[in-house]
Amino acid sequence: MATPQPREEPEAPTAVPRVEPIVEELAKAPERGGPGEVVLEVKDLKTYFFTYDGVVKALDGVTLHIRRGETLGLVGETGCGKSVTAFSVTRLVSDPPGRVIGGKVRYRNANLLFGLEQEAKFTPVPKSNRVKVKRAFRRIRSNMQRMSAVRGRAISMIFQEPTQAMNPVFSISNQLSEVLVLHRGPEIVDGLLKAKPDAAEARPAIEALVEAGRQENRVEMREAANHLGEVVGSASFGAQAFYIVRAAGAASEDAGKDVQRALRRLRLSSSQRRYLQHQRRLMLIDRATNELYLEEMRRQAVNRIARIRLRGQRLRERSSHIYYRLWGVRNRVGKPLKDELFWRSVRLLEGVSIANPVQVARGFPHELSGGMLQRVMIAEALSSEPDILIADEPTTALDVTIQAQILELMRDLKTRVGTAILLITHDLAVIAEVADRVCVMYAGVIVEQGPVHDVFRRPLHPYAQGLLASIPRLDQPDKQLSSIPGSVPDLIHPPSGCRFHPRCPYAMPVCKEARPPMTQEGPQHTVACYLYKGPVAPE
Ligand SMILES: Nc1ncnc2c1ncn2[C@@H]1O[C@H](COP(=O)(O)OP(=O)(O)O)[C@@H](O)[C@H]1O
Ligand code: SF4
Ligand SMILES: [Mg+2]
Repeated sequence: MATPQPREEPEAPTAVPRVEPIVEELAKAPERGGPGEVVLEVKDLKTYFFTYDGVVKALDGVTLHIRRGETLGLVGETGCGKSVTAFSVTRLVSDPPGRVIGGKVRYRNANLLFGLEQEAKFTPVPKSNRVKVKRAFRRIRSNMQRMSAVRGRAISMIFQEPTQAMNPVFSISNQLSEVLVLHRGPEIVDGLLKAKPDAAEARPAIEALVEAGRQENRVEMREAANHLGEVVGSASFGAQAFYIVRAAGAASEDAGKDVQRALRRLRLSSSQRRYLQHQRRLMLIDRATNELYLEEMRRQAVNRIARIRLRGQRLRERSSHIYYRLWGVRNRVGKPLKDELFWRSVRLLEGVSIANPVQVARGFPHELSGGMLQRVMIAEALSSEPDILIADEPTTALDVTIQAQILELMRDLKTRVGTAILLITHDLAVIAEVADRVCVMYAGVIVEQGPVHDVFRRPLHPYAQGLLASIPRLDQPDKQLSSIPGSVPDLIHPPSGCRFHPRCPYAMPVCKEARPPMTQEGPQHTVACYLYKGPVAPE
């Protein structure tokens, strides 16, 4: 047992909280790799759904990879398995009935299917499609903990259906705050501890803001507010002041006093400072535990001792500050953190072009339209600046102008942070605009892969040709539009051989017999079809 934490902390603003070296070491922001690094590697991924009608072979050997700073488009008709691919990578397949039954998923060398074999032992019943599933709950729980180390900061997801991804009983700002605390917690607390709420220094900046407010000049107000944020050392205070003055409108004399009052609230009492330092330690311990889980997934070695030490430390931290949990105390001492998170959420909402971010932040999911919710979710996913962003039909529910803004945000994240993006959509126009490479998916398999230019200019697979023939193109104004006859097959009894053969105009006898291998038809262009005789593509 280590020595218990004494209650009193030194009272210096720059005091570094005492945390064991291992925590400080592990909790450092992980370094990001170079531009060519493969961040996500999926190999021969198989996901089945065990239903009463039979086994739905939703993914039957999907192989793809994404490099840092690259956008990979995944296209295909509805029901081809695009969403199931996204869920399988993040291990969010609803179980039962779904289960990832094979393949490899690696995030920067960490095996994301860690412990999958033990998680369920499934025994196929002979001569039938039924499967018995046995589960070990404790294993599943520990795998869930491991995955929470990966979700969010490493891999973020924007879902197709925003209403399902939000919790209806918490306000929007609460839900955004949770994400902020998880991924940016220590940084936010450090900012609060270092803020300089000196009214004398801030006075000229406040006066400039009030003056701009009286003239209702939004551009100048924004500038003055940003400057005020810099003077105070807290960008979110700038946002807060901006909205206080804007709400007052032309009568902004009194708003000046409100801004001063808000500024005074930034000055921390000694118990508030202690509480924040305590929170920071808890956040660092959480982050360090997550790092250990990731390390474990990388090396398949269990660093149990370090994990048990961290868990012990967390329990000690919690119990030594049980005083904060008493009614009323935590509300009072936690106020600065709560305010900061609220205004940071407002800034996130501003970032996705929501016109009235303060009201939206205070509101609840049911009050917002689908498009607004989708933007909130995008703000949430982008806030953690993830290594990989999986966007499943991110703009399908949005109108064209908002769609352009969202794609711009994603592009910005890609260049600024180096986020790799897996963009899933059935909209080929979106792919043409933002993707670097594209994977064409049909009935649970990837049938063609290559740089966007090559695939759009010279689609090889008859399915890809069919998809491209069904959209109007500016460069071919006289083109006759056509559609692919038939529909995506039933995946309980998928067609033998090439799964596209019942719909393919070029089908040959061999197509029904065996699945075509992936062949190399260009430097990075591969296709799975018997019409092409190139060398078999390397794995
Ligand atoms: N919960 C489920 N139960 C049974 N089958 C499912 C389930 N979810 C998805 N599937 C099957 O997986 C296939 C792929 O679905 P999905 O990935 O949602 O397609 P899309 O490409 O439109 O995103 C579909 O054929 C569907 O029948
Ligand atoms: S393998 Fe045969 S059926 Fe499949 S796409 Fe090629 S030609 Fe058509
Ligand atoms: Mg889908």
